[in-house]
Amino acid sequence: MEDRLRSIEDKAIKAVRQAKDQETLEEIKVRFLGRKGILTGILKGLGRLPRQERPKVGKLANEVKVRIERAVRQRLKALEKEAGPKVIKGFDPTLPGRTLPRGHLHPITTVLHKVCSIFERLGFSIAEGPEIELDFYNFEALNIPPDHPARDMQDTFYVDDKVLLRTHTSPIQVRTMEVMKPPIRIIAPGKVYRCDSDVTHTPMFHQVEGLMVDREVSFAHLKGILTHFAQEIFYRDTKVRFRPSFFPFTEPSAEIDIQCVMCRGGGCRVCSDTGWLEVLGAGLVHPQVLRNVGIDTERYSGFAFGLGIERIAMLKYGINDIRLFYDNDLRFLNQF
Ligand code: FA5
Repeated sequence: MEDRLRSIEDKAIKAVRQAKDQETLEEIKVRFLGRKGILTGILKGLGRLPRQERPKVGKLANEVKVRIERAVRQRLKALEKEAGPKVIKGFDPTLPGRTLPRGHLHPITTVLHKVCSIFERLGFSIAEGPEIELDFYNFEALNIPPDHPARDMQDTFYVDDKVLLRTHTSPIQVRTMEVMKPPIRIIAPGKVYRCDSDVTHTPMFHQVEGLMVDREVSFAHLKGILTHFAQEIFYRDTKVRFRPSFFPFTEPSAEIDIQCVMCRGGGCRVCSDTGWLEVLGAGLVHPQVLRNVGIDTERYSGFAFGLGIERIAMLKYGINDIRLFYDNDLRFLNQF
């Protein structure tokens, strides 16, 4: 019986090594190891052997089985390697995959990130506040009491008497100063809402608020920071114009214009023939606003600014109608 097992092993291993393809190999495997295979037959017939021979023959039969199985596995690996990638009917794994179209950031998000990174490099950190805001933070704490004519400067969406959609990011100034003591250097990006719509106005737009409060902060610091910002986001020689203006929460106040890149200052529809586009409001924080949050105005002063992201994006990409950003027309968005 032992000789028979050895001869079965030799035959099986020889056949396995000579198998030319996977089909033949499978046949050989079935012939020797299958349920009705030669070796299986011997294992099943162990019971008919004399009792003292059974353990020895059984052990050998199992060893033979393991060796044949190993040879089959090795041959299968070699055959697979020779055959290269498997070709399943109707499916060619060597073809390149179908890629899903890849999206990209909205141009407003891209500009928002760029603006924030310029100020972050100057040491400003990010602060946030709610879009649904209390009248108190949006107006009163900013020195705009009820019935103050300055409320008309921003057409407000009211939720009720005391709650509204914030009209600017300036309430974050107050919220920040309530919890932080000077030195303060923050920017606050976010969505704001006004009942307004034309080529340079949308009912929802983005602002980035800036606030710096420390000892001896002056208008010169504000001018330096904003000029640096304009020249970083546009070109080194970008022209910036500071116009005297009025905000109840800053004194003195200014509006800052950038030379219109559409007409290079010559005058066009976007800049209403002025050659300039207003992108931000700014000023030195009004002492009353500082007092409202308990900051000592003898020791500290500060500047603040609020810039419109859409206006910056219009100038950067040469867009002549702000509403295009929100029409969700892929022919427009795919250009960025
Ligand atoms: C303000 O909102 C002040 N909070 C800015 C400020 C902050 C002043 C801190 C002083 C100190 P203003 O209403 O001018 O100011 O708006 C600021 C900028 O937002 C504008 O320069 C403009 O770029 C942009 N903006 C205003 N209204 C719209 C609108 N409807 N659509 C798109 N952009 C707008």
